[in-house]
Amino acid sequence: MSNILVTGGNKGIGLEICRQLARLGHHVILSARSEERGRAAVAILAREKLKVDFLLLDTADEASIRLAAKELGQRIQALHVLINNAAILPTWGGSILEATAAELHDTFVTNTIGPVLLTQALLPLLKAGKPSRVINVSSRLGSLHEMTDGWAGYGISKAALNAATRKLADALQPHGISVNVASPGWVRTDMGGESAPLPVEKGAQNIVRLVTDVPHSLTNRYLEEKGEIPW
Ligand SMILES: NC(=O)c1ccc[n+]([C@@H]2O[C@H](COP(=O)([O-])OP(=O)(O)OC[C@H]3O[C@@H](n4cnc5c(N)ncnc54)[C@H](OP(=O)(O)O)[C@@H]3O)[C@@H](O)[C@H]2O)c1
Repeated sequence: MSNILVTGGNKGIGLEICRQLARLGHHVILSARSEERGRAAVAILAREKLKVDFLLLDTADEASIRLAAKELGQRIQALHVLINNAAILPTWGGSILEATAAELHDTFVTNTIGPVLLTQALLPLLKAGKPSRVINVSSRLGSLHEMTDGWAGYGISKAALNAATRKLADALQPHGISVNVASPGWVRTDMGGESAPLPVEKGAQNIVRLVTDVPHSLTNRYLEEKGEIPW
């Protein structure tokens, strides 16, 4: 049984990741920026006879990250998996030519800086849990190889998350911590919209498989359902 922290666990892919990992018998800590929404999600899982713990964590807020890391350190001795899932998509499809400072700033703070600061804050617990993993939930829209216009702030923030993943992977390999990017595919959630082809169960599976099927030795990779994709 691993101790696993999931950010943005109150809905969408994050909630489903918590569900699937709890079903496998792991100790899941479901975190959310809203106590009310987070505890409501924990209650949904409890009705399914799945016990997960709650942690208040706003990944766009440095003070919240520090406080949550401290709180978690009082609850567990070691963290085996951190899943940086929380993200925002403020402007659906928007062109780089119309991207506002607010969109660029907000996506960068939540989607890129949050996962980096949280990984830093949890380093003592991740080191104690080694071999441990950090899984950054990114998107194909963050691939430089495929980058076209559209999804401006979001795409840039996910490309930067991919870059941060590679730096973290390099820095943390000597500590026995693997760091990979997982892309869930286009999934029917509030973010993905109703036209998305994949149900949330499948999107979450594409992340959970990095916990269940990917060896600890594999690090610094950009992984999708069918395997590795170009950065
Ligand atoms: N859906 C897709 O098609 C798709 C495709 C590629 C990648 N992804 C990635 O998959 C992940 C999950 O996406 P989703 O589709 O499940 O999105 P979603 O339904 O919009 O859920 C996003 C989650 O992130 C949380 N969140 C946002 N900002 C946060 C913050 N500052 N602190 C803590 N939590 C925060 C939200 O909490 P609130 O409820 O409080 O807002 C919510 O729980 C994201 O990283 C996304 O970029 C999704």
